[in-house]
Amino acid sequence: MITSDELKKQAALAALEKVEPGMKLGLGSGSTANHFIRGLGALVRDGLSVVGVPSSERTAALAREVGVPLTTLEETPRLDLTIDGADELDSRLRLIKGGGGALLREKIVAAASGQMIVIADGTKLVETLGAFPLPIEVNHFGIGATIAAIAVAAVRLDQPVTLTRRLTAEGTPFVTDGGHAIIDASFGRIRDPEALSLALVAIPGVVEHGLFIGLASAAVIARPEGISWLVA
Ligand code: A5P
Repeated sequence: MITSDELKKQAALAALEKVEPGMKLGLGSGSTANHFIRGLGALVRDGLSVVGVPSSERTAALAREVGVPLTTLEETPRLDLTIDGADELDSRLRLIKGGGGALLREKIVAAASGQMIVIADGTKLVETLGAFPLPIEVNHFGIGATIAAIAVAAVRLDQPVTLTRRLTAEGTPFVTDGGHAIIDASFGRIRDPEALSLALVAIPGVVEHGLFIGLASAAVIARPEGISWLVA
């Protein structure tokens, strides 16, 4: 039986076909994006000329290891294409991201790109977003007040939620590359992703959240029966 990791790799390799010489690329984070970066490294070793902006320290380390030349958004503020995984996506290409905690840089990189292609195995495509807890990146200062404000925003949207501060495997508070905390918001089913997004960004302690709306232009979905493309 084909594993979910093999399907992630198939999606990543299908997206690699959209990379053209000279492109400035946003490099996503996570196990699916890692397959893409390894594949890109192989093409670079064969002579492909591209540069990438990594969306996390882990992605930067992998890209260096496999020989993908890196740049920054200071040097290269506009990118051609970002390729990244997702924790969930719906048929309208609305995403939940941040399972790996890289959502802030991932969103900055995606927003700086002309196109974003999502790569995912078929289990990530859902009818309604929210079974995967929504990661919300928050400032450490005032974290109790921020959590309370998120709960109030959910009540106003008639949206039941359970909020959990993310911990590391060792039980210490998880800290993002930007030095912030993550609150995982379990909604079960997000009734109105656009309204929730607006309500969350209006809370001062919220740095960013993992709903990516209007950013992805296409998605490659790999299932045991084959690859399919969703286009916005
Ligand atoms: C990282 O913060 C996330 O947004 C990842 O893109 C997402 O969690 C998908 O991860 P996998 O590719 O490992 O499933």
